[in-house]
Amino acid sequence: MKLQLSVLAAFLAGSASAVRPLIAKGGNFVNSAGDRFVIVGLAYQPGGASGYDPASGKDPLSDPDICLRDAAVMQRLGINTIRVYNVNPEVNHDMCMSIFNSVGIYVALDVNSPLAGDSIHRHEPESSYHEGYIKRIYSVVDAFRGYPNLLSFFAGNEVVNDALSASLVPPYIRAIHRDLKKYIAKHAPRTIPVGYSAADDPTRRPMWAYLSCGDDADSRTDFYGLNSYQWCGDSTWESSGYQGLVDTFKNTSVPLFFSEFGCNKIRPRPFGEIAALYGERMISSWSGGLVYEYSQEKSDYGIVQIDSNGDARLLKDFDNLQSQYNNINLNLIKTKSAATTTARHPKCEDTFILQGHSEKFNTSTTLPPNPATNLLEKGSGNTNVGKLVPVTQTKTPHKVFTSTGVQIDGIEIKMLKDDESNTPSGENTSSSTASSGSGGGSGDEKDATGGLRVSAVLVVGVAVVVGFWGLA
Ligand SMILES: *[C@@H]1O[C@H](CO)[C@@H](O)[C@H](O)[C@H]1NC(C)=O
Ligand SMILES: *[C@@H]1O[C@H](CO)[C@@H](O)[C@H](O)[C@H]1NC(C)=O
Ligand SMILES: *[C@@H]1O[C@H](CO)[C@@H](O)[C@H](O)[C@H]1NC(C)=O
Repeated sequence: MKLQLSVLAAFLAGSASAVRPLIAKGGNFVNSAGDRFVIVGLAYQPGGASGYDPASGKDPLSDPDICLRDAAVMQRLGINTIRVYNVNPEVNHDMCMSIFNSVGIYVALDVNSPLAGDSIHRHEPESSYHEGYIKRIYSVVDAFRGYPNLLSFFAGNEVVNDALSASLVPPYIRAIHRDLKKYIAKHAPRTIPVGYSAADDPTRRPMWAYLSCGDDADSRTDFYGLNSYQWCGDSTWESSGYQGLVDTFKNTSVPLFFSEFGCNKIRPRPFGEIAALYGERMISSWSGGLVYEYSQEKSDYGIVQIDSNGDARLLKDFDNLQSQYNNINLNLIKTKSAATTTARHPKCEDTFILQGHSEKFNTSTTLPPNPATNLLEKGSGNTNVGKLVPVTQTKTPHKVFTSTGVQIDGIEIKMLKDDESNTPSGENTSSSTASSGSGGGSGDEKDATGGLRVSAVLVVGVAVVVGFWGLA
């Protein structure tokens, strides 16, 4: 009880205010106030795809100094979501998740990891779908189910990406959705959306149709992410193929977004696709996307260079992206709710799923049974169940430099009010006024995605606290 009161006090003092959890509803993400949420986000995997080493006891959400640095930078940039790929369910994520929460940034999380046993083998799904795998994904749910800013789980990333995987894997992806959603229903304090991140190849339409069809709400996906790199350099609406995307997924019954995007064939990247993605032609059916990626790695997609001593240097791509974000019409997001909010899920018929698809694609709705129903019932055994903690430190010990090499004075996070998510602030971080230290973050003009009256706010804070401790 003591703990409960102290956390409650922290909420009221504004040092651990919480964003509103999100759900998928028809073609949109919405919060509990019914406001539509559109993802303005980044892939976040400092160290790169191969940087995950569970033996190190670290992952991208375990070091508060690094999270403070990156949350402060991201807050200025104006994003509201990060995607994190590889987490260790055994390490403590409380402070990092609380830091991102305090600046209104949600986390979309992959339950898998590239390590053997932590993901489905795309050509041998049967032998990789075993009790150890289920234990892994349930442990990740346990580690993150307590955070209100956990946006969603990805059940898989590009598992289907060639002819053989298309003929074998789809029923496993629906099975994993089922396993996760049943586990969440039994063990989590709230609904947490579960979805898929697809390769942008000829399977993108059948995969979306297969995952979003039918009456079985457990195995049906809650959202569909597409890893899309088709807009490069000075592409235009006409040359990029974006019209084809809009046409292909027009009647979606689940939220759609880019789970990765940002072609880097032309550098620095101008990010002209931002105007398209958040503009009139896409905003009614697409819910934004996640730019690949925050940190500069070997693959050369970064917008921030991380030095070996932990200092960060914004790159030209950062400035370009920020100025594109600053031109997003946030009012459009509010007014253009997806037309398909109440859409019915289509029947799982081959005529619907395979429409125009000539390759082999497995449309079976007979799913492999959960290989670990015992864990579904009694839990994964992971006692590292995350929860929000008060954020007491706002400054990172690391230095941050603009793209022109000027050190940003007093870089720190600016905690938002309850229920607020972060939005672009109109700021130009690499301008000569960089040292003024005016962070992105709160301000009266910021009321894009979760704008709410203060009166409703405290009630939500209390409800969240009770939800947490009631569970523990
Ligand atoms: C569909 O996938 C399941 C699971 O991999 C497999 O057992 C079945 O044979 C596949 N069906 C076809 C027609 O390939
Ligand atoms: C969308 O739905 C409408 C009405 O049901 C239908 O006429 C149209 O063909 C569908 N479009 C696509 C691309 O599936
Ligand atoms: C930011 O400000 C600097 C200095 O005023 C200017 O040179 C630069 O073009 C601006 N960048 C953007 C993206 O507006």
